Amino acid sequence: MITLGIESSCDETGIGIYSSDDGLISHKLFSQVKLHAEYGGVVPELASRDHIQKAIPLIKDALKESNVKLNQLTGIAYTAGPGLSGALLVGSSIAQSLAWGLGIPALGVHHMEGHLLAPLLESKKPKFPFVALLVSGGHTLLVDVPRIGEYKILGESLDDAVGEGFDKTAKILGLGYPGGPALANLAKKGYKNRFTFPRPMTDRPGLDFSFSGLKTFARNTYFDFPDEKANIAKAFEVAATETLTIKCNRAIKHTGYKTLVVSGGVSANLSLRQSLNQMGTENDVSVFYPALNFCTDNGAMIALAGHYRLLAGQSNENYEISIKPRWSLEELLPV
Ligand code: KG4
Ligand code: ZN
Repeated sequence: MITLGIESSCDETGIGIYSSDDGLISHKLFSQVKLHAEYGGVVPELASRDHIQKAIPLIKDALKESNVKLNQLTGIAYTAGPGLSGALLVGSSIAQSLAWGLGIPALGVHHMEGHLLAPLLESKKPKFPFVALLVSGGHTLLVDVPRIGEYKILGESLDDAVGEGFDKTAKILGLGYPGGPALANLAKKGYKNRFTFPRPMTDRPGLDFSFSGLKTFARNTYFDFPDEKANIAKAFEVAATETLTIKCNRAIKHTGYKTLVVSGGVSANLSLRQSLNQMGTENDVSVFYPALNFCTDNGAMIALAGHYRLLAGQSNENYEISIKPRWSLEELLPV
């Protein structure tokens, strides 16, 4: 089986081709970062228009790179949600039309399941069951994962996602868009003990998160100490990282599992990886991440997630162009 995957939920057009015999055989990505930078955030209408322009050329490139002919594809997976409606509709329209033309099944995939399974693209794969920490621009989720397709949310952010916290704090510090990597970069020059930010919701039981207060803390500190951007960036990063680590440790103890999977854009953050690895070593827990280029949005993870489901015979009936801009992981069918 050879599955084509299409990601277009936000500001990256991603294509992946996954084969039963050879694994991931091609992936292509176009990031719209430059397009949205001057607006300080993603402009949905511009995102949709750009996906339309980029998706088909990228599919052609991926097919060429992997030496796969269109008629060798056996299924097409696309991100059906969550995400921006217009952007999702581009992937859905292309996937369903192409699949209809080729007479092969098409399937809408959950974007966060793509992130969750991305570490399975690596040669050293996590074994089930595991706890997943999904940290992106739109979500902060702790998930109990007994097997592919079965997801129980243990905790989530009650306000801003952690990536959103990074982005908003970066904006306050005038670091531009996208803020996460810029803030992490600046934090390298900061002193860890200059400012101490709170570790939200760690002083009470439970696995939920709240990150909007950290951004306010950063704003107030910046107002009082405008020359200390790097120290503020560091204090934010340390507080966010430690908060996530405390909650992961709790989730591990709660489930009794010995494997932690960390994925989504913020899992590219090296301080977070360091802190989680240390927690893992101290608690005899193995921690798995995707390769750095598969932490943020990409088509490879959608091809992979779709591949498992298409193999199990799942597909959307009637080639209907369908999206789910709001969609919980817990609603997914088991595989
Ligand atoms: O998974 P992703 O590409 O898109 C969503 O599904 O949201 O995640 C994007 C998020 C953004 O908030 C971005 O600032 C953050 O991931 N991010 C980082 C880093 N790289 C990306 N945050 C902290 N440190 C990084 N190195
Ligand atoms: Zn994402």
